[in-house]
Order: sequence, then structure tokens, then C-alpha cells
Amino acid sequence: MKAQVTIDRDVAIGDTHDRLFGAFVEHLGRCVYGGIFEPGHPEADEKGFRRDVLALVKELAPTIMRYPGGNFVSGYNWEDGVGPVEQRPRRLDLAWMSTEPNTFGTNEFIDWCRAADVEPMLAVNLGTRGADAARNLVEYCNHPGGTAWSDLRRSHGWEKPHDIKFWCLGNEVDGPWQMEHKTAREYGRVATESAKMMKWVDPSLELAACGSSARNMPTFGAWEREVLEHCFEHVEFISLHTYLNNYADDMPSFLASADLMDSFIEEVVSIADAVAAERRSSKRLMLSFDEWNVWYRTRGKKEGRTVPGWPVAPKILEEIYTMGDALAFGGACISLLNHADRVKAACLAQLVNAIAPIMTETGGPAWRQTIFYPFAQMSNLGRGRVLRSRVESPTYATSYYDPRGTQEHRFSMPEVPYLKCAAVHDRDEGFLTLFLLNRSLDDVLDLRVDTRGMELLGLDRAEQLCDSDLAAVNSREQPERIKPSILEQVRIADGQISAVLQPGSWNIIRMKMLAA
Ligand code: AHR
Repeated sequence: MKAQVTIDRDVAIGDTHDRLFGAFVEHLGRCVYGGIFEPGHPEADEKGFRRDVLALVKELAPTIMRYPGGNFVSGYNWEDGVGPVEQRPRRLDLAWMSTEPNTFGTNEFIDWCRAADVEPMLAVNLGTRGADAARNLVEYCNHPGGTAWSDLRRSHGWEKPHDIKFWCLGNEVDGPWQMEHKTAREYGRVATESAKMMKWVDPSLELAACGSSARNMPTFGAWEREVLEHCFEHVEFISLHTYLNNYADDMPSFLASADLMDSFIEEVVSIADAVAAERRSSKRLMLSFDEWNVWYRTRGKKEGRTVPGWPVAPKILEEIYTMGDALAFGGACISLLNHADRVKAACLAQLVNAIAPIMTETGGPAWRQTIFYPFAQMSNLGRGRVLRSRVESPTYATSYYDPRGTQEHRFSMPEVPYLKCAAVHDRDEGFLTLFLLNRSLDDVLDLRVDTRGMELLGLDRAEQLCDSDLAAVNSREQPERIKPSILEQVRIADGQISAVLQPGSWNIIRMKMLAA
């Protein structure tokens, strides 16, 4: 099978923002406790941060980290997580039906972000709390001193303000599973009032309003429109969430489903711009895709995904990712890159243990899941100007399954090309990087890339992630069962790149170029 890609140095989608490569730490299962934080672990530093996990986080290279939830934030009293640890209350967490010991809170998270070299992104509780708790948290974190909340932070040992810029106004407030779920009108009002007060405390904040928690929510579209009618002037971002699934055990459709993220992004852009047009406003909201991943084996109903008895840090949502999952995940990476003009923040949900690229054993080692690799390659190699790829590829028919994944919930989709591709030009450093997914499970793909207006100096690196067993996984016993290998057979001549992509493969090809 043959495919042709054409790119032109001067035909660009947009520049990637560093925040496009973010991830997410929620108080959920063993993401915090036994994940990033495990005092007493042989690898723990003096603050209880696992050094082995920090080393993997640096290799993964997320740029911004969302915290503390997720569903958890809709019942969280941030005051419980600050001050002397021995005085912090233990609470029932109704999001994940567990006991929250509060031995890790906002200040520990900020210290961890500094150690991991990532920007913090905080979410405020617009479920059980509201604007008052939100503005107090901003004052606690960002005000230099001389007020009750800022002096409280200083008395807790953090003299300098945390200077947190990016804030999420609640989480998935459209979802009935959320503590104090709201209608669009109710949420639009509380988001507006919270935004106003938070920015009065610190005008430098950038705020994201909650969009729909999924594209298949019945309220999708109407929700965004009504929420933005209220808070358009007060926010910079609207959020999107997507979890790809293979409930139907239909690998070709699963690999195609990442393309629904493209549709979702384009639809939300249209709605945000329609709200702007009604106001004759030149303001353009940006998109924060602040939860995305593959998630289905450990999803399902609340009863099935929680553990009775209110445990601390239960082993829940510990999705083990296969080779096939990594391919679908790679498709999602390409969707994000190809919308770099409007998606200016995104968070892989999540970071450690709970639906995560990094796994740990409590008291034991840490290792990389299959999805670790496409993310690390995207974050380390995908910064720059995303060029518009013209893809000529054979296509295939597929279906879309909503999260229930049954035949009754099957919808037809337009045919999708076997090849999915993004091209990023780093003009400062002089690299062109191609991210390439061959969705054919049977055929190799003979690829030709025509690069216009670019002087290719040679190959820098070429790697593939593929395996004849799409069910293969990494584990404690076999941590490197799936890992990238060298992509052979890449040729560069006369501005043309040619390569042979294996069936069911994720690939990167990086060329050296003249800088600027
Ligand atoms: O990431 C897991 C959960 O998925 C988050 O807590 C919630 O926001 C979403 O439904």
C-alpha cells in the first residue's frame, strides 16, 4: 500500500504551546500515594517524592500538571491539605469512595512540580464549594503576604508566592456523577463569579471554563454555548475531555476513533467563535484538552471501579496498556498536534498508576507502559510550527462506538485514511519531525513525503513502535516488552523522504535542516 504526504515550509497550522504537552495528577487510587509520593520508599527523597518516578517523569517530559482532580476536586476542601500534616483531617472522598489522608496537598504538589520541572495547573472546587473558597485559594497561593490567607501560607513554610497562572474552574460539572453537578446556567453563573473574584485577587491568571465532559454527552454543544454566554469575557480557555475505548473489540475502529477528537476540537472552536461573533468580539478562546487518554477496561460504573471499605489509595483504574492502545493513543497525539493553533493546553490523564503512562509497585519498582513512548516522543520532539500535511492514502470503512461500545450504540463514520500524520518544523533548532501512524493491521505502507521549501540535511533519528502481538504489554517482570526500535529503510533524496511503515505501527522520523 502506498501513501503520499506533502508539506510546505510556509503552509502552517500554528505553533505548539509548551502547555500542549501536559499531564494530570489526581487524588485517585495510587496516583499520589504510592505513585509520585511514598515516604519510606527506598527511592523517596526527604520530602517523600519517589526519585525513580521523578526520573521517568523527566523522560516523559510533561510541561504542565493538572491537580488535584478530576472528580475528586468537586468535593475537596483545599484547606484540609495545608498546614501541619499531623493536624490535617482524614476525609471520605465520594468521587473514588476512598479515604483521603490529606498528607499531600497544594504546597507539596507545588514542591513536586518544581522538582519535576513542570508548571502547575490547579483546579478549584465548583461542586461543593464555590467562588469564595476559590478566591481564598488564589490568595493563599499567589498573594505575596500581609493578609490572613497569604500569611497562613508563609506560616506553613512557603514564604514566596507560588505564582500559579493556569486555573480550571471546576471539573466536568455537566456530569451527573459529579458532586453538585450543575445545569449550564448554574455553572455559567458560578464560573463567572469565581473568575471575576479570582482575577481581582490576581489579574495575571489564565482560566479555563468546563466544556462538556465528553463529545457524546447529550448536552454537548448547548452546554458550551450557554456556559460561554455567561463567562466568555472572563475566561481564556474552554475545556474538552476524551477517553478512547475499544469496548467493542474492533481494533480498526478503535484506531480510527482518535479522529473524533479532531471533530470535537473543530466543533468546540466553532461554538466558541460563534459566541464571539454574536458579541462582535475579536477575542478567540483557546482550548484546554485537559483530560485525554485511552480508558475502558477499568472504567464502567462507580460500583465496579471502586473498592468497598473506604481504603486509602486503593488499586483502582490501573489500566494496563497494550501495544494496540499505544497506537490509538498515538492517533490522539497527532490530533492534538494538528490543532496546535487552538489547543494551547492539554493534559494526558493521568500520570502514575491510575490510567497512566508510568506504573509503580508500592514499595517496589517503577516502569513505563506502552503509551509512555508516543507521549515522550511527542513532547520531546514535537515542539515548533506544525505544518499542514496533505495526506493521500487509501482509506477504510469503520464504525464509531459510544462508550457503551455495543452494536446498538454503533454509528457510521466517514472512511478514514490508513495513514495519520503530523509534521512539526522546529525552525530554531533546525529539525523537521514527522509523527506517523499506519492504521493498516495487514499491510506495510510505502511512504513518500514531499517537503517543499525545505533543505533537508540528513536523518537525525527514526523510530517505530510496533509488535505482531497487539495485546502485548509491559509489566514489572517484563518492563521493556514493548519499546521503540530503529525504523530502518528511511531514505532522503531531492527533498523527498521515503520510508516503509510496518502494519499497525507508530513511527517518528526526524530530519536535520538548516536552522531558521
Ligand atoms: O481521569 C479520571 C476521571 O475521568 C476524572 O476524575 C474525571 O474528570 C473524568 O471523568
